[in-house]
Amino acid sequence: MNEQGKGLYPRAGRKALMDVLEGRVPSRRPIWLMRQAGRYLPEYMAMRSKAGSFLDLCYTPELAAEVTLQPLRRFDLDAAIVFADILLVPHALGVRVTFQAGEGPVVEKVADAYRVAQLTGRPLGREVEAVYETVRQVRGQLAPDVAVIGFCGAPWTVATYLIEGGSSAERLTARVAAFRGESWLDTLIDGLVSASIEYLAGQVAAGADCVQIFDSWAGDLPDGLRQRFCFAPIRRIMEGLRARCGAVPVIGFARGLGAAHGGFVEATGVQACGLESGVPLDWAARVLTPVAAVQGNLDPVSLLAGGRGLEHDVVRIVTALPFERHVFNLGHGVRPQTDPRAVALLVDTVRRVDGNR
Ligand code: CP3
Repeated sequence: MNEQGKGLYPRAGRKALMDVLEGRVPSRRPIWLMRQAGRYLPEYMAMRSKAGSFLDLCYTPELAAEVTLQPLRRFDLDAAIVFADILLVPHALGVRVTFQAGEGPVVEKVADAYRVAQLTGRPLGREVEAVYETVRQVRGQLAPDVAVIGFCGAPWTVATYLIEGGSSAERLTARVAAFRGESWLDTLIDGLVSASIEYLAGQVAAGADCVQIFDSWAGDLPDGLRQRFCFAPIRRIMEGLRARCGAVPVIGFARGLGAAHGGFVEATGVQACGLESGVPLDWAARVLTPVAAVQGNLDPVSLLAGGRGLEHDVVRIVTALPFERHVFNLGHGVRPQTDPRAVALLVDTVRRVDGNR
């Protein structure tokens, strides 16, 4: 059974996602998917062409709110993630950012002390107000038991796009700068920490219930450098956010850490730890769930493949992780070629397995 449109209509009860993040037993296992709004949905493609560019879509609250809600109209999900991008923060600091069809983001390079000095210490530009307005509109239209997730990129991941000038297969320039311990890299990370605190606090003030910090390239760095460029900056964002907004639950998605997720949770104090698809769940259940909730970790390619294999993988994940400590999600974002019917099958399978508990 596909329970269409539930997210927009009140169901009795509390927000299951917030229950798990705050350590209570939820009424059901919360589900949301990274990149749940996007190119695999034909209604997204329609909005995207109406908006013109990707940035225009992000900065037009009526359209961004509609795109945020599109997956909630189709699937029985527990959270909406505000439609925006991690590169809006550097853009609001005055860095030129464009999104070319088929090419990904093109970013003005910031990879020396002079360029870093130009963007640090500046307040965010007015464009971010559009994102806060999107959060307000989404909150206003959503059922009260569906959570709104705000987000930003982690400083390391955002820095890699600035240093490389966009996406890059290996992020070698950024990694070499980290290994050399370039002082401008510390300054850049510090600037991104301050900007991220301001940006997340703005989303929370507008109605976000919790936030996710995306560190997609956390796996790039070895142990010592990881502390300095990934863990410590995320911890400082959390402290800054707490000072501005009080206790707001944070989901940390530091992709590619493997067994170092334990150290990540310890160093940052995140309420939930996002897991990439390679993390063994018996290990996560034993080591991580006593100290944090976990989120993940279905392989997006399993969702793309669909069918019996997908059902099998969903059952495996749901039975491996405790209901009150798990947020069902993927190990990374939904692939654009995914059939929306596979997402419906995923949601129905989680609900069916938990219903038989
Ligand atoms: O539904 C959601 O998850 C919310 C929206 C969201 C987007 N980007 C929209 C988007 C979120 C949470 C992000 C995060 C993001 N953006 C990350 C971290 C997560 C990850 O995927 O690792 C990163 C690294 C980016 C930077 C970025 N934005 C890249 C590398 C690209 C190009 C690759 C791609 O998928 O197209 C983008 C563009 C982007 N961001 C799109 C969307 C829907 C596609 C734009 C389009 O419609 O053409």
